[in-house]
Amino acid sequence: MPAFTVEMDGAIAVVVFDLPGESVNKFSRAVKDEIAALIGQLRNDATVRGVVLMSGKKDTFIAGADIEEFVAAKTEAAFRTLSREGQKFLDELEAFPKPIVVAIHGACLGGGLELSLACHYRIASNHRKTVLALPEVQLGLIPGAGGCNRLPRLIGLRAALDMILTGKNIRADRALRIGLVDEVVSPAILRSVAVKTAAMLAESPVTRKPRGHWFLDRTRPGRALVFSQARKQVLRQTRGNYPAPLAAIEAVRFSLRHGLSRGLEHEAELFAKMAVTDVSRNLVNIFFATTALKKDPGVPPPAPEPLPVARLAVLGAGFMGAGIAVTAAEQAGVTVRMKDADLARVGKGLKAVSDVIQERLRKRSIDRREAARRIAMISGGVDYDSIRNADLVVEAVFEDLEIKRTVLRETEAVVRPECIFASNTSTIPIARIAEAAARPENVVGMHFFSPVHRMPLLEVIAAARTAPRTVVTAVAFGRSMGKTVIVVRDCPGFFINRILAPYINETGHLVMEGTPLEDLDRAMTAWGFPVGPVTLLDEVGLDVAAKAGKVMLEAFGERLRPAIRIDALVSDGRLGRKNGRGFYRYEKGRKAGIDAAVYGLLGVAKASGSGSEAVAERLSLAMLNEAARALEEGVIRSPRDGDIGAIYGIGFPPFKGGPFRLMDALGAEAVVAALERLASRHGPRFAPAQVLVDHARNGRHFYGD
Ligand code: NAI
Repeated sequence: MPAFTVEMDGAIAVVVFDLPGESVNKFSRAVKDEIAALIGQLRNDATVRGVVLMSGKKDTFIAGADIEEFVAAKTEAAFRTLSREGQKFLDELEAFPKPIVVAIHGACLGGGLELSLACHYRIASNHRKTVLALPEVQLGLIPGAGGCNRLPRLIGLRAALDMILTGKNIRADRALRIGLVDEVVSPAILRSVAVKTAAMLAESPVTRKPRGHWFLDRTRPGRALVFSQARKQVLRQTRGNYPAPLAAIEAVRFSLRHGLSRGLEHEAELFAKMAVTDVSRNLVNIFFATTALKKDPGVPPPAPEPLPVARLAVLGAGFMGAGIAVTAAEQAGVTVRMKDADLARVGKGLKAVSDVIQERLRKRSIDRREAARRIAMISGGVDYDSIRNADLVVEAVFEDLEIKRTVLRETEAVVRPECIFASNTSTIPIARIAEAAARPENVVGMHFFSPVHRMPLLEVIAAARTAPRTVVTAVAFGRSMGKTVIVVRDCPGFFINRILAPYINETGHLVMEGTPLEDLDRAMTAWGFPVGPVTLLDEVGLDVAAKAGKVMLEAFGERLRPAIRIDALVSDGRLGRKNGRGFYRYEKGRKAGIDAAVYGLLGVAKASGSGSEAVAERLSLAMLNEAARALEEGVIRSPRDGDIGAIYGIGFPPFKGGPFRLMDALGAEAVVAALERLASRHGPRFAPAQVLVDHARNGRHFYGD
């Protein structure tokens, strides 16, 4: 079946791209060969005076290159060829003697945008699904089909770097403003306007004024300034851990200096170089894993269908409850009823909901009408009567077993028998809560992270008596809230808090040895975490961390005994960022240096500092070893879930691929040797997990053997 069809509209050939058997259009070698042949025919057809290129898919134009085909390339030479072939085809398109107008409706990403750049005129629909982007750097790559060359020439250097280095989506109105498209029209008339335009351009070609600032975008010293600023900014943001943005800057610089033809060659070289880096491989694997998780129902086959959820109830209108309510309304489009113990708390919850929506309004990502519509979806009260019809109830009351059991009983007494009850507990085993249930098969854990509207991960906890239908419903609903969902076994700390516990405890040991607190943060941000462990403790809340530490100690014993008395800090009124006092001082809500008083409270003398590598090794291995244990115990279903969980749940450095990818890259033997060395120096808490010892002995990996 062909991917392209041609319909004549007067003297204009309308080429419609509709990849058979796929939900979106992707660019592959086969697709390229087909359209190249088609374009060749249109060139020779004297009745054709112009071409319109558009998509037959509902909401995508072209989603980018076919990544499956891309990863099959493997060698640098193969990637270079792939890039050169793509470039060559787009050169032909650009040199086509008749006007080609591209009509863009829906996502126009990566190779799709590069194709559009080679066409002669771009019209976008003003639909919210229409977005344009070059997201290659997010996969550790650079645009390799002319994007680094054509984009700066079209929209100016600074705007081009902004797109290429961030990969961010540009909506139609902004695309028009920066000159990325020539025209924006409503979807209903997109095709007819494109046809008319092609006919017009056949008479007189378009001329464009150069874009950007005359000095910064168009002179050599101005550009040099822009490039050096861009490099500095990239290094600040990536700490040198991501090579692709620097390669993209180089590709653009070279192109503007040496012209299009040599620029394209250099772009292909750099593209190929990036494609074979470990960083790119890791980022591509994360992309595949995330895509696979989106299709994973959460239970082994045959998976039952999830129950529809149209009405959500949230018990507890506190910090988490309000976050869950607003995210569910905004993302999943459900109506939400929040219930709390008294009206004042309900009011506070509704205010928190409204703050999130107002923030979006302020940032102009929604308009007034949409804000009002969203606010109207969420109501609150103190009675159970109003949650009678709920399909799903998420409980986010105080972290107290008896209170949770009470609200579970009270809920079951009023809701329909098939209603699902999900607890957002962070430490209490779901089975303990479910002991109070008349219908334990309907009880599940949905562990969200704070702030709920920003954190991408959800852990769904399947307890021993949770029915598969309950699990798949929680997974499907979490996904409709925009979350990446991993299903974990019911055990203390689930997965995320489980791997955090030894990491935080090891931080405590280092503190007690006198390591300066700022050194700990510095070592781990250099290692690739977005924040260091001390900042993380302040963010999580010291009261919350102290409580979690106790739960983990009770459950796992000595191995997870906290080394410092966070209690002592809590008693001193330090709850972390939320009350502006923690390990750090805060001024006007901003971190303002370590509070030296903390050393005294903990009874330690600050030493002169220790090597950042030694710190990073201890902290990271404590976490990796625990991840291996969690897999061994079946807390997570697969290394994939563990990697995605760690990356989305705690910001584990994506360029390292996740704990399991990293252990595979290091080799189990090396990991075990390092753990044994640490165990002999610091104690048995570093004893390697059995699965690592086995892998080391058998030369096995977590992935793929
Ligand atoms: P919070 O103290 O802000 O909110 C709890 C709310 O529950 C309060 O508004 C309280 O009035 C209400 N409540 C208490 N008893 C109730 C009852 N019987 N009926 C109705 N409402 C009642 O606490 P937060 O931080 O929102 O935590 C809630 C749950 O979420 C806890 O189980 C916690 O462990 C969990 N969690 C918290 C995270 C965090 O970062 N704060 C992260 C993940 C989970």
